[in-house]
Order: sequence, then structure tokens, then C-alpha cells
Amino acid sequence: MFVVSDELQQERAKALAQRWGFSLADSPREGVQLQITRERLQLVEQSEGAPGAVYVDFIGGAVGHRHRFGGGRGQTIAKAVGLKGGNNPRVVDATAGLGRDAFVLASLGCHVTMIERSAVVAALLEDGLARAADDLDVGGWIRERMHLIHADAVAWMDSLDESDLPDVVYLDPMFPHKQKSALVKKEMRLLQKLLGFDEDEAALLDAALRIARKRVVVKRPDFAHPLAQRKPSMAIKGKKHRFDVYVRAAM
Ligand SMILES: C[S@@+](CC[C@H](N)C(=O)[O-])C[C@H]1O[C@@H](n2cnc3c(N)ncnc32)[C@H](O)[C@@H]1O
Repeated sequence: MFVVSDELQQERAKALAQRWGFSLADSPREGVQLQITRERLQLVEQSEGAPGAVYVDFIGGAVGHRHRFGGGRGQTIAKAVGLKGGNNPRVVDATAGLGRDAFVLASLGCHVTMIERSAVVAALLEDGLARAADDLDVGGWIRERMHLIHADAVAWMDSLDESDLPDVVYLDPMFPHKQKSALVKKEMRLLQKLLGFDEDEAALLDAALRIARKRVVVKRPDFAHPLAQRKPSMAIKGKKHRFDVYVRAAM
């Protein structure tokens, strides 16, 4: 992956390239690449009709809006992970992506360990977390409750110590989307182009079921079959998604 920067951002670009094993470029190239600007790190595609830049923004945009007006513990994702009363489960988000679901869960009180295997996506997420950590409104709990690990989640979950097992494992592997609308879709299209589809869903679910003390929650498009064709204990339907819940023990 190439990181493009202007002259002023060259030192930051160099450090980033070294940390994640990216290459440097001083002008845009054809195709998908990372771009470092004064404000942030973003993923862009240089081609006709390409979607706009993709970056992690926990403060403005759709994610920040949902935080301010999003319905708190009554929303379906909260019910799916078992947020009842003062219950604040420890969650492993094993498919962190751009961190939106992890952010919602952390904003509701969960401690979330985010696992992301793509270096490009992990770099975008790390950049978004660093910017949000300085925010007066959300920075405090983001620093305390959201932690990113760049790893393959199957291997990482398999090597976890008994004393570190989480209450909940949350899974949202890439699903082939066909629609072409709205901001989230734009991000998904670019990520799909970069990452392809996640093909280790059975291994992910097996590993998650081994380590979750209380439950595994799988986010699916409302029309999709359950992950790895395994029937969940219950399904909670939201507006666009369904959460399949595999219960291991009472919360
Ligand atoms: C659909 S996205 C997740 C979106 C995320 N829930 C959000 O709210 O932004 C799926 C992500 O999971 C990551 N992923 C898939 N399989 C993984 C694995 N075995 N280990 C770590 N990350 C994985 C992919 O690289 C991709 O970034």
C-alpha cells in the first residue's frame, strides 16, 4: 500500500510507512492508496467515479451524530450484547473495521478490545482513535474503553489466557453488498475493493464460541443466512441489520 503526502507531511508519512510496512509516494497514483493530510489519514481511490475519501471520524459525521442522538441502551446492538441495567460487559470486537460498532458499544459503557487484521484498516482506526482521544467530549472514555490490536482474530483468540476471556465476542465480517447508496455504503465499497470478502467465518465463529464467557453476537444484513449456517440462540432485528446471538451463559 502506498502512502501519499505533500511536503509538509513527509515526516509523518515516513513514520507511518515504517510502522505499518507501507511504501511512500509524493504524488497520487492510480488505484486505492492512503493519503496523509494535515487533519488525518484517509483511504482514497484515484479513478473516474470513485467514491470519496474514507477515514475514521468518531467526533463529527454519522458516528458522532449517532453518539449524540442514537438511543442509548435501548438500541438493538445494546440488547444484542446484553446491556441491561448497570451491566458493562468486556467485549472483544474481533472484526473491528472502521470501529463504528466498537465506538457505540464503548459509548454505552463496554470495554472494547478491537482486533483488526488489515494493516491499512488498523492504521486508519489508530489515526481516528488518536484524534478522538484529544476531544474534550469523548476523549476520556475513548482512551479508557477502546483498545486496538492489529492481529488476525482467530489466532489472537486462540492464544488468549483464561484470565483474559471476554464476556462477549462481537463479529461483523464483510458481507458482499450490492447496493450503491449513502455514506456507509461508499465506505463499504472501498473496503471491499481493498480487502475482498472475509472467508474465515466458520473459524472466527468457532474461536469466538471458545472464548466468550457469556455470548457471541454476529451482525448480519437482514437478508443474510446465519454465519457459517449455524443457528443462533436468538436473533434481534434492527432497521437494516440482524444480530444473531449465541448464548453461552446468562449475563
Ligand atoms: C465489515 S468490517 C467491520 C465493520 C465494523 N463492525 C464497523 O463498525 O466499522 C469487517 C472487518 O473485519 C476485519 N476482519 C475480518 N476477518 C478478520 C480476522 N480474522 N481477524 C481480524 N480482522 C478481521 C476485516 O479486515 C474488516 O476490516
